Amino acid sequence: MKITVIGSSNTDMVVKTERFPKPGETIIGEEFFMFPGGKGANQAVAAARLGGNVTLVAKVGNDVFGKQALEGFKTENINTKYVFTDESAASGVALITVNAEGENEIVVASGANGQLNKKDITTAKKAITEAEVIVLQLEVPIETVAYAIKQSLKANKRVILNPAPAQALADELLNGLFLLTPNETEAEILTSIEVTNVATAKLAADELLKKGVQNVIITMGSKGAFFMNETETFLMEAERVKAVDSTAAGDVFNGALAVAIAKNKPWKEAIAFANKAASISVTRMGAQASAPKSEEL
Ligand code: RIB
Repeated sequence: MKITVIGSSNTDMVVKTERFPKPGETIIGEEFFMFPGGKGANQAVAAARLGGNVTLVAKVGNDVFGKQALEGFKTENINTKYVFTDESAASGVALITVNAEGENEIVVASGANGQLNKKDITTAKKAITEAEVIVLQLEVPIETVAYAIKQSLKANKRVILNPAPAQALADELLNGLFLLTPNETEAEILTSIEVTNVATAKLAADELLKKGVQNVIITMGSKGAFFMNETETFLMEAERVKAVDSTAAGDVFNGALAVAIAKNKPWKEAIAFANKAASISVTRMGAQASAPKSEEL
């Protein structure tokens, strides 16, 4: 089950508050936490904790956060051969506010993540050719993502793209993807179809299939996850849990999904597994800190 995740690594600075501040307002929050984060690293850790043999391709700065992140990946048994260190940029940082409902607001200072380039992907060629599944997100430069997808498809690999944070993407980049996993907002940005329910999710998924994506999962929070490919369409209901912190729920979902896909599980089983992992993660604080281990599922 070799999985390669290509993406970001951040240190998350998290403050728990009753509510989000309004623009210009200062509020007194509750506890402060510092957690390892970044969508790429979160997905890598989630997959590794669920039994994946994971290689991470990422870039950190030559600073205390970068070193801590690297140590963390090693503790999680992630192959760090292709976690590059940039000598001039700082490691990525995310400022996160989590309200009483467990919702979050996130601002990322990309730092070294923004320096992950095509040359690094070429250096990490083996991480692509030796993997069964490649997972990407959009927190590193889009040229790098596009190049990595191209190289992965050339090597006949199954590519999962989690198009987060939301941005418009060229059709060329979507064509040939094994799986695309947008949330409702991301699906709308990619298709111009407002996704609010199963009917609109179906329209958006259909549009994405027409762009050459083989399988689409639109994650719709408490409404569940909508799946569609050429032969199968279904909504997998969300697990009911009390959310403490929803940060990285999508990352845990994608990491778990990568493991199930690498094991060639049928779609319903794969999505139920990913749903379960994500639902556990929202019941605890932190990004990587909240990712469950196999035995918890
Ligand atoms: O998806 C959650 C992640 O987004 C956080 O860990 C933060 O670092 C940002 O990348």
